[in-house]
Amino acid sequence: MNNNSPIGVFDSGIGGLTVLKQLIRFLPYESYVYLGDTARVPYGNKSDTIVKEYAQQCTEFLLQKGVKLVVVACNTVSAVALDTVRELCGDVPVIGMIKPASEAALRSTINGKIGVIGTRATIHSEAYALGIKDLLGGGEVEVFSQECPLFVPIVEEGMANHQIARLAAEEYLTKLKQTNIDTLVLGCTHYPLLSRLLSEVLPDVILVDSGEHSSVDALRLLAEMNLLAAPREVFMQKHPIEFFVTDVPSQFFDLAQKFLGFAIDSPKTIDFREFAKNG
Ligand code: DGL
Repeated sequence: MNNNSPIGVFDSGIGGLTVLKQLIRFLPYESYVYLGDTARVPYGNKSDTIVKEYAQQCTEFLLQKGVKLVVVACNTVSAVALDTVRELCGDVPVIGMIKPASEAALRSTINGKIGVIGTRATIHSEAYALGIKDLLGGGEVEVFSQECPLFVPIVEEGMANHQIARLAAEEYLTKLKQTNIDTLVLGCTHYPLLSRLLSEVLPDVILVDSGEHSSVDALRLLAEMNLLAAPREVFMQKHPIEFFVTDVPSQFFDLAQKFLGFAIDSPKTIDFREFAKNG
């Protein structure tokens, strides 16, 4: 791996494109390989064992592409399978979502009350609650967690601005509202698309976007390792991104554009069953 090697990014589907968007914002000169396991999404309601197995396959695929960094652009994988990914990666550095967002939440909170929302698997793992407490090393902070399983399908159905999203948000956030949190970690790739609504339901609460803070960490890490790509002309240029998916569902291009903010070329489809046989 060298400075010109691509950054590998993977997610259970296209939600990780919100993370890729942030990566491009902070690391515009890099090239990327993005893998979305669209055939098996969602991961958020699957068991840890299955998520680890899928994460292993996604990581092996990216490593074969010669990436210089693996970004686990999925909170669920980051919560339950980061060790699996790190083990496979060896010398290739890995950035997950939990630590950068936990650090950002600790920087943001004034009253020491932090909320975390995520998929069922992320919340059940307690990765954020434990991660935040770990970083604090004994200080006083309270973490209030809430799983929000309906948010992912609501966003994927294009209903982020629909009444249904508001009803779900009010239902999920009622308890969090009563806790007087001043900071809320958006512990899922899809939730940045609900930011406006979440800010309306929880006014005066700072929202922490895990994709944004992990991208800053990716920039720092590559700079420390002297692995940044050289600056080049990027204005009006297409970003060098190779897209891979395990299925191309209907609505794929619409959704991808919504998550990423610009249109993408047709992705290449890979079949993990074939990949396993040949790998
Ligand atoms: N990408 C997942 C996450 O950030 C959400 C979608 C899923 O459940 O797979 O947790």
